[in-house]
Amino acid sequence: MRGEICVGAGSFLALASLLLLIFVHVSQINTSTVPRGISMIKVNVSGYGEALHVALIDDIQGLYTNDSAAPLGVSAGLRQFYQFGLYSHCGYVNASAGICSNHSTASPFEPYTALTSDMLSNYSQFSDPIVGDNSFKDGSLGKNTRAAYYMILLGTICAALALLTGVVKYNLTFFLSTGFAVLGSVFLLVGASIWTAVLRKAQAINPVQVGLPADHVQIGILVSMGHGLPLLWAAFASLLVSIVPYMIRSVLCPGCETFIDFVSCCTFRG
Ligand SMILES: *[C@@H]1O[C@H](CO)[C@@H](O)[C@H](O)[C@H]1NC(C)=O
Ligand SMILES: *[C@@H]1O[C@H](CO)[C@@H](O)[C@H](O)[C@H]1NC(C)=O
Ligand SMILES: *[C@@H]1O[C@H](CO)[C@@H](O)[C@H](O)[C@H]1NC(C)=O
Ligand SMILES: *[C@@H]1O[C@H](CO)[C@@H](O)[C@H](O)[C@H]1NC(C)=O
Ligand SMILES: *[C@@H]1O[C@H](CO)[C@@H](O)[C@H](O)[C@H]1NC(C)=O
Ligand SMILES: *[C@@H]1O[C@H](CO)[C@@H](O)[C@H](O)[C@H]1NC(C)=O
Repeated sequence: MRGEICVGAGSFLALASLLLLIFVHVSQINTSTVPRGISMIKVNVSGYGEALHVALIDDIQGLYTNDSAAPLGVSAGLRQFYQFGLYSHCGYVNASAGICSNHSTASPFEPYTALTSDMLSNYSQFSDPIVGDNSFKDGSLGKNTRAAYYMILLGTICAALALLTGVVKYNLTFFLSTGFAVLGSVFLLVGASIWTAVLRKAQAINPVQVGLPADHVQIGILVSMGHGLPLLWAAFASLLVSIVPYMIRSVLCPGCETFIDFVSCCTFRG
């Protein structure tokens, strides 16, 4: 490997991983363009009113609110679209106008609670039997995503440390950056796997039908993946691949003290 490539590849990949993780962390922190576009999981409930109408026969009035600024969690009305991030979730009345919940560290992914806490109490009562005993309601979604948050946080710290130790000093820190890249990859793998499993579990709501057998419709709650999850997997892949140049560096140039030493060492030997 040429010196410049050898020096830069590990740091470049660790930096790419860190940047991707920063995008994952800002998902749904507010409704500005970038955070709004990134979420771990999206829930589209725009068809739920129609489904309730079929299931209950009654006219469904006051289920949704059109007021994009109405606060979440206080029965102010259901929004059409919900998106969940690592620190908060946001409800949108159309593609762009919405409001976010208060921030909390390790905010749990509890979609059923989020939806029913926005409905008037008569509708949240009806929702219980309609949604039934579905894993969309399961308390494990919240618990697992809280654990996943800490994995992602530790993975982010490891990616940052791999990057820092990879550029500061060159004799001992080779091994440190390799170590942090390995450790960070493991944390990110666990975090991304948990979120992926949680997505599959929540998607159990998608095919549910409501109403009489003769006149039934889809429940109108659609759970899908947000852009944050592929970003998280990409951050994992990038940090994982960075292990290769970090290891090559520590094996090829164990005694180099400075950046210049290191470049010449890599260039002549590599
Ligand atoms: C969203 O957060 C960012 C960073 O904290 C801030 O710059 C931006 O103004 C916020 N946007 C809104 C709509 O609050
Ligand atoms: C939301 O779901 C409805 C069906 O329930 C669908 O018609 C609509 O296209 C979906 N909207 C988005 C933005 O996914
Ligand atoms: C639920 O309550 C709201 C407001 O009190 C009312 O407008 C609506 O008709 C009620 N819906 C049902 C199905 O009872
Ligand atoms: C919300 O807007 C839709 C279409 O713009 C309208 O049909 C509906 O009546 C409005 N609902 C409320 C509660 O204002
Ligand atoms: C979304 O709704 C807000 C307020 O209800 C409105 O100002 C905005 O134009 C709407 N945007 C789109 C894309 O429909
Ligand atoms: C969100 O924060 C505001 C201001 O700090 C507070 O008044 C409100 O009660 C909080 N909402 C929830 C649901 O905790």
